[in-house]
Amino acid sequence: MSDSAIPRHVAIIMDGNGRWAQARGLPRKAGHRAGAESVREAVDACLDLGIPFITLYAFSSENWSRPEKEVAALMKLLEQFLKTKGKEFMQKNVRLRTIGQIERLPASCRAQIAQVEQDTAQNTALTVILALSYGSREEITASTRRIAEKISTGELSPEEISKETLAQHLDTAEFPDPDLLIRTSGEFRLSNFLLWQLSYAEFFVSEKNWPDFNKGDFHEAVADYSRRHRRFGGL
Ligand code: FPP
Repeated sequence: MSDSAIPRHVAIIMDGNGRWAQARGLPRKAGHRAGAESVREAVDACLDLGIPFITLYAFSSENWSRPEKEVAALMKLLEQFLKTKGKEFMQKNVRLRTIGQIERLPASCRAQIAQVEQDTAQNTALTVILALSYGSREEITASTRRIAEKISTGELSPEEISKETLAQHLDTAEFPDPDLLIRTSGEFRLSNFLLWQLSYAEFFVSEKNWPDFNKGDFHEAVADYSRRHRRFGGL
């Protein structure tokens, strides 16, 4: 946790793609496509500001229950996104990582992810973490299971379990906690996103739908964050 004016890690719930499309009489997938453009804006804003980590909630565990057609469109978009980002991320010195139950994604997406992660592994300007088939309760449950396995084999004892033990068994073990959470489309909900990791984060809610959220809006969210005095429960 830092008290710096610039967040080290920004997390975003990219909400409102469907409403953006509906307002224009377009299919929902057009909203998701426009949303992928906003991802580029957010990545560029992080690079401008020197923010080293960004986590994007691209597909939640709950999103599997959407109509099959929409899930398929999102998976196709993800694949296209990864194909084009490979090159762009190399040019911009950006590293790709993912969190979530990646094993539930189609094999073609998993292959693309593995390729881009491998290609960008040495990049240092910014780490883009895509949350895919991600749910925080699922993540905490899996983490607990891994700890329990270590206890059953004697690798760990119950007395040794600390907050750090739990954090080290989450998908996010190697990343700092987010300092700032942005949610678009005027909703004030966490939606099973990084429940553990957002404990001390500042929240910024934008009325704009995600496809309308541009670089300037991102800068505004960070400026708002910078004005707040962070006390972490102290004085
Ligand atoms: C929420 O809008 C958004 C999603 C469920 C998916 C997020 C995906 C993207 C921004 C597109 C692509 C990103 C990548 C990384 C490929 P919603 O559909 O819930 O909107 P609504 O609440 O208005 O219906």
